[in-house]
Amino acid sequence: MIFTSPPYADQRKSTYGGIHPNEYVNWFLPISKELLRVLKPTGTFVLNIKEKVVKGERSIYVMELILEMRKQGWLWTEEFIWHKKNSYPGKWPNRFRDAWERLLQFNKNKKFNMYQEEVMVPIGDWAKSRFKKLSDTDKRRDESKVGSGFGKNISNWVDRDKAYPTNVLHLSTECNNKKHSAAFPEALPEWFIKLFTKQGDTVLDPFTGSGTTNFVAQRMYRHSIGIDIYKEYYDYVKKQIDPKKLVLFEPNHEYDSIKNTRPNSIR
Ligand SMILES: C[S@@+](CC[C@H](N)C(=O)[O-])C[C@H]1O[C@@H](n2cnc3c(N)ncnc32)[C@H](O)[C@@H]1O
Repeated sequence: MIFTSPPYADQRKSTYGGIHPNEYVNWFLPISKELLRVLKPTGTFVLNIKEKVVKGERSIYVMELILEMRKQGWLWTEEFIWHKKNSYPGKWPNRFRDAWERLLQFNKNKKFNMYQEEVMVPIGDWAKSRFKKLSDTDKRRDESKVGSGFGKNISNWVDRDKAYPTNVLHLSTECNNKKHSAAFPEALPEWFIKLFTKQGDTVLDPFTGSGTTNFVAQRMYRHSIGIDIYKEYYDYVKKQIDPKKLVLFEPNHEYDSIKNTRPNSIR
């Protein structure tokens, strides 16, 4: 799988350069072309991105990018939302605080590896009271009223303690990564790595920065590749990462979930 957060248009110019919103699509397409080439047919590309506001209006380069990537051969399979639970309050004259980012899921084929059971969540106490009194509709498959072909049978979920999550992830940003000003929280790649890969698979981050994706992938017994234009980041990740030898056909490992053991240093 490929998991990455590229530089956003015109942001963080002071740290690692910015690309003008009008040039963003042309800048990104040669990169996504190579990503399409190297991704396995059953693999998934997850792109964490958010358009900024320019002169009082949201830029549309993310939308344009989706359209162009589809022409390039990508399927735009899904969009996840990362809700930043701890985004700081603020006051703007014509909008509210930005508290979410997009995670665009692209694939090469309609059939791709997805391990949904790995990200199931506790069903929650609401279910106990909801399942106590099931209506007749709850006991049979209730087809969607909008003709989408989807339906639900509520009674199938009685006595289960886990349910599938939604496509909205509620995660806090991490403020303790002093190495990189735009690092995402470890829980973000972790969730997608669980969903789209197995132990021993390979995860690529072509804009790896402080190497969050690589550190998480390694903790989860996945191989990983990180690329960054700045040697400083490459050196940092290379120095911190501790290569592990995995034996062929090794049974699955238990791994610790989100234990922030990474150093915060350098800058
Ligand atoms: C948003 S940051 C990634 C942060 C990373 N997810 C983390 O957790 O630290 C984007 C990274 O892309 C790198 N970058 C910018 N232009 C690049 C390019 N053309 N090729 C590769 N890396 C690039 C920047 O140096 C920066 O580290």
